[in-house]
Amino acid sequence: MRILVINPGATSTKVAVFEDKQKILQEILQHSVEELDKYPTVMDQKEMRASAVEEFLRKHNLTIDQFDAIAARGGILPPVESGTYIVDETMVDYLINKTKVQHASNLAAVIGYELSKKASRTIPVYITDPVSVDEMIPEARLSGIRDIERKSLSHISNMRAVGIRIAEELGKKFNELNMVIAHLGSGISVAPFEKGRMIDVNNANDEGPFSVERTGELPVGDVVKLCYSGQYTKEQMKKMFVGKGGLVAYLGTNDLREAFKMAESDPKALEVIEAMAYQIAQEIGAMCVALKGKVDAIVLTGGMAYSERFVDMIKSYIFKFAPIFVVPGEMEMEALAYGALRVLTGVEEPKIWRPQEV
Ligand SMILES: Nc1ncnc2c1ncn2[C@@H]1O[C@H](COP(=O)(O)OP(=O)(O)OP(=O)(O)O)[C@@H](O)[C@H]1O
Ligand SMILES: [Mg+2]
Repeated sequence: MRILVINPGATSTKVAVFEDKQKILQEILQHSVEELDKYPTVMDQKEMRASAVEEFLRKHNLTIDQFDAIAARGGILPPVESGTYIVDETMVDYLINKTKVQHASNLAAVIGYELSKKASRTIPVYITDPVSVDEMIPEARLSGIRDIERKSLSHISNMRAVGIRIAEELGKKFNELNMVIAHLGSGISVAPFEKGRMIDVNNANDEGPFSVERTGELPVGDVVKLCYSGQYTKEQMKKMFVGKGGLVAYLGTNDLREAFKMAESDPKALEVIEAMAYQIAQEIGAMCVALKGKVDAIVLTGGMAYSERFVDMIKSYIFKFAPIFVVPGEMEMEALAYGALRVLTGVEEPKIWRPQEV
């Protein structure tokens, strides 16, 4: 089976070709700021980005006809169950005309769908596990204030792909096991998966541990004081929490490797790294509680999991809870390709997405 993977980010479009589970090609198609500035909305970039993907195919002597499926990154859809969804007219119409959030990921399914229409035969297009997957149990939804409901937005795509891989290594199915998976990227998502279902997750933008550039949870009383201090605009406050918070607020870098270098001569820097590890471990502990302590595996993934030293700091708190597995980096392209593959090989039923009536 040959699968084309399309993953648009803010300034680039990642494309890859998979032969079954093997990635045989991957390129990052860069879009310059000047180029992107020409388009008033993100969706207006679709022809330009689609041509870049077609150019990539031509360069490698490939045609769309040679693919069994296109796997696209899921856009900002309303809350959905995890799984692989068929991209159809309804979804494409929603992403082009109805979605409230402008985000590069919204382009993926649209570009994939339009490319598939250029083939001489029917080529299915799928998305797998968009950020808005919501499988939270009811008790996880309450925040403690009526006006605010907790939201399920996470790095599910990488987390689920990594979880499926560890389950395979253990000779089990993902939906037979309980796992706590921590994605340690620029943002940090920690989620308990109960027999495959993500029953809770901290929203990496405003809950859980601080990361290299986000604060995570903060003492709310002090946040309110800062908001009303008159010292900062709303935009500045938001930037302080996401982008300029966490490690970067203390050390001026959002690169963990850089922080470890600083720590060689500065004990304060080491303390900040240790604090981040401590908070991550606490969140993992909380998510073990969500699984009532019945945890078959704890998995650490994302860029920070490359650092053995950092992983060891986290392990020192949680080693008693469950066996710990480390999958450094991300499997984002694999997540999309394997999602499509599971459907093509009949392992999983594809889902059909319909917007909920409001
Ligand atoms: N080899 C490494 N050793 C230590 N830290 C690393 C290593 N490689 C990457 N990192 C750290 O991982 C972090 C970024 O992780 P990652 O690349 O997964 O994030 P991202 O993809 O940018 O963001 P997100 O996954 O939240 O969308 C950075 O702090 C970076 O310094
Ligand atoms: Mg990432």
